[in-house]
Amino acid sequence: MILVTGGAGFIGANFVLGWLSSSEAEGVINLDKLTYAGNLANLQSLKVDPRHMLVHGDIGDKGLVSNLLSKYRPRAIVNFAAESHVDRSIHGPAEFIQTNIIGTFNLLECAREYWASLRDSEKEEFRFHHVSTDEVYGSLAPSDPAFKESNPYEPNSPYSASKAASDHLVRAWFHTYGFPVVTTNCSNNYGPYHFPEKLIPLVILNALNGKPLPIYGDGQQIRDWLFVGDHCSAIREVLAKGRLGETYNIGGWNEKANLEVVNAICAILDELKPRADGKSYADQITFVKDRPGHDRRYAIDASKIEEELGWRPAETFDTGIRKTVQWYLDNPDWVQGVVTGSYRDWLEKQYHN
Ligand code: NAD
Ligand code: TYD
Repeated sequence: MILVTGGAGFIGANFVLGWLSSSEAEGVINLDKLTYAGNLANLQSLKVDPRHMLVHGDIGDKGLVSNLLSKYRPRAIVNFAAESHVDRSIHGPAEFIQTNIIGTFNLLECAREYWASLRDSEKEEFRFHHVSTDEVYGSLAPSDPAFKESNPYEPNSPYSASKAASDHLVRAWFHTYGFPVVTTNCSNNYGPYHFPEKLIPLVILNALNGKPLPIYGDGQQIRDWLFVGDHCSAIREVLAKGRLGETYNIGGWNEKANLEVVNAICAILDELKPRADGKSYADQITFVKDRPGHDRRYAIDASKIEEELGWRPAETFDTGIRKTVQWYLDNPDWVQGVVTGSYRDWLEKQYHN
């Protein structure tokens, strides 16, 4: 088996679904706290699959994590569990410190103890894969080269600072204890099951509901967009063949300014589901107050993973964003479930004015 943490969230659920889509795949124990971002509807199709077992719990719970490890004896841990939204980290950083730092520390310690108890051949095979973000590298100027694995860490938000701290812990557990880790730092993901507090799903759903499409500041901030299915295939590659103690940057080679992303979504919606009044969804674009400490540009140089492991993303931004918009149009039940939940309270707090 493998132990996946945070597998009811956006990327974790896509990873679990992708993993179990192969008939030869090992089973998955999915440890998730089911915060506002953890959604069992993401895993609906696995309800009757005996290879998937959801455990409702916290990566910071030492007794629970240790019990799961000794009972199910996974040969790998893939750690997705985190608080992941920059804006929420600005309003309330405490949960980010708790889960992203203390939680990762607890997971590492429980896993190290378990690993020490394994037979030599199992020890050799064991992997702790930590999923992290490009935001740890800070913000790039327009002409700076894209982030390489050797870039210094310069996190600017409570979220990225907490992820940076977790990456440092993972690194130290390798160097100090010889604990077998790999870390991946990826760029902004998008795709199915994305919780609509993040830019792309928020814009799709607001557009369809006739609401404003909020653009922070001048909308010229750049992100390097990665289709979630590509991210998951990269993780599988690194888990199988990545070198211990290494970090791998994963990106889509798709740098886009936010305004360009929003206009692309509007153009696809204009084509697939035109507004009743015949106008473009782009008319709903509204510029709002900028995010404090807003990073201007992220870009990933993903040549290391390509050269060492032969991985490249399969989707371009054009193909990936079209699939994504289509998915939201095709899954009104999932959307309905999400928008009637605590997501609403968050929207009220963030966009009240
Ligand atoms: P998400 O917020 O959608 O999901 C996080 C999941 O973790 C949820 O299911 C939540 O219930 C669970 N969780 C939270 N705290 C937990 C705890 N203490 N114990 C157990 N489970 C807990 O996040 P995501 O977008 O799927 O991101 C997954 C990982 O990828 C995170 O580590 C994030 O930092 C990283 N990442 C995300 C992106 C992105 O664009 N979304 C980009 C780079 C890196
Ligand atoms: P987001 O999806 O929150 O990801 P991250 O902050 O981790 O990059 O935001 C992506 C970009 O879109 C970021 O530059 C902030 C911007 N943004 C808006 O302009 N409006 C919004 O309503 C949101 C949620 C984000």
